[in-house]
Amino acid sequence: MKQLAAYPLLVQHKQRLEQQTLCKLFAQQPNRFDRYTRSAAGWTLDYSKNRLDDPALNELIRLAGQADISGQRDALFRGEEINNTEQRPALHTALRSNTSTPLEIDGEDIRPLIRAAQQQMQRLCEEIHGGRWLGYSGKPIKDVVNIGIGGSFLGPKVVIQGLQPYQHSSVKVHFIANIDPSDMQETLNRVDPATTLFIVASKSFGTQETICNASACRAWLQGAGVEDGDLSKHFLAITANAPKAIEFGIAGDNILPMWDWVGGRYSLWSTIGLPIALGIGYDNFQQLLDGARSMDEHFCEAPLADNMPVLLGMLGVWYQNFWHARSHGLLCYSYYLRSFVDHIQQLDMESNGKSVNRHGATLDYRSGAIIWGGEGCNGQHAYHQLLHLGNQFTPVDFILPLNCHYPERQAQHCILVANAFSQSQALMQGKPGAQARAELERQGLDTSAVETLLPHKIMPGNRPSNTLVADRLTPHSLGALLALYEHKVFVQAMVWDINPFDQWGVELGKQLSDTLHERLQHPGATADQDSSSNGLIKLYHRALDV
Ligand code: F6P
Repeated sequence: MKQLAAYPLLVQHKQRLEQQTLCKLFAQQPNRFDRYTRSAAGWTLDYSKNRLDDPALNELIRLAGQADISGQRDALFRGEEINNTEQRPALHTALRSNTSTPLEIDGEDIRPLIRAAQQQMQRLCEEIHGGRWLGYSGKPIKDVVNIGIGGSFLGPKVVIQGLQPYQHSSVKVHFIANIDPSDMQETLNRVDPATTLFIVASKSFGTQETICNASACRAWLQGAGVEDGDLSKHFLAITANAPKAIEFGIAGDNILPMWDWVGGRYSLWSTIGLPIALGIGYDNFQQLLDGARSMDEHFCEAPLADNMPVLLGMLGVWYQNFWHARSHGLLCYSYYLRSFVDHIQQLDMESNGKSVNRHGATLDYRSGAIIWGGEGCNGQHAYHQLLHLGNQFTPVDFILPLNCHYPERQAQHCILVANAFSQSQALMQGKPGAQARAELERQGLDTSAVETLLPHKIMPGNRPSNTLVADRLTPHSLGALLALYEHKVFVQAMVWDINPFDQWGVELGKQLSDTLHERLQHPGATADQDSSSNGLIKLYHRALDV
């Protein structure tokens, strides 16, 4: 990135803009909102409250051009081997495409494979919703429990939660992800073995947490009297490793395919989305795909300067690389989006948490930000203090639907919207010394008390934010929002010249966990680890009194 011609010019723009405040930029450009707002796929992005003016923004877009964002994007959609460390394409966009133009991977057109898998999902939805899929005792399925972790959990969960008002009346979807047995037990306590269907969702079918939970759930069914021959009435698998699912004991007909060319954190659009389709109905799942496709089309067609994923991505680059931000907050003013940040954390941090470029050379610039956030207004009563008065530079995105799902509650929803808008205004405007002083004086404080309190009351402001709004949260708009962030992450990866589609960093912990598990199971085992690990193992043994 540093060798691109726009880079040094952006360093200069940053130095110039440091002397500017957002309020002054607004005063100089009365039409700033109109100028710095773009809409696509049902979402409007207001990026006017950023520390940018036209010259800096133009240079940032030039940086995107010099990083060949358009060429790389086209290569992504064409199915080139963009995941170079695993020698495979990343074709999540094909899952929501409606074209039938052949797309060949290793000589095979993947469009019919996708269609067949979607038909299989649709058939399952019809059978289960129609009460025709029966459990071992002949009763229809009422609860679906998805057993999966990471991308085989977070995407489906954010959609099921996000679209709760669309929930299908005949089944309820639950998730078991963590190896913590309490996660599983609390779910099992709520469901009946006779009417529960488990989906074992694992691309690799080798993830410790998932296989361990799936085995325990199978034992739970057996404990409830389910004969081995009836287990297939209670288990589906979604995997790219069918032989392992069969080895586990899942009937071949009950296995839905996944493919190497879909990354786990990009997989909610695939068969991994089955719990979504079961939870909100297949038509709504299709709407979700349609929304994502609308954003794909915008990403592919809009000029870089008008392109929402490019703008979001480049604003992130602007703050990470030129303003030395370390984190990026996602503030969702929507109860339904309360887990949005969990999914985007995996999407962004597993994709862009890299220290070397695609060719293995160490980066001499910052890559992926720490993504954090939560649900507004709750965050205002927790961490917003740091956003307003802390001494870290922390850009944030406000995300909200403007309409409440329940029209009779719109008046209260209006207060929620006012809070979101006022937080972004407060971050921008701050509270200058004169205003803070006048407020204290109006309270009747004497001069010395005013001087003592004043430094605590001044808010510097000038803190940037984006605001993303949609008329309402629907399957279509949620699909578009999720695709927007996928493409934002991709844009940044291309500027940073990294491969966003591998995740080698999670491997070491998995390997070490096996060794430590072994030591924890054997009290007499040699204390052959580092002293901290040995000490912690001893504490475990003492707690269990062994
Ligand atoms: O934690 C690493 C990871 O490979 C994620 O990328 C993935 O989403 C998750 O584990 C689950 O993997 P699988 O679907 O293969 O069980």
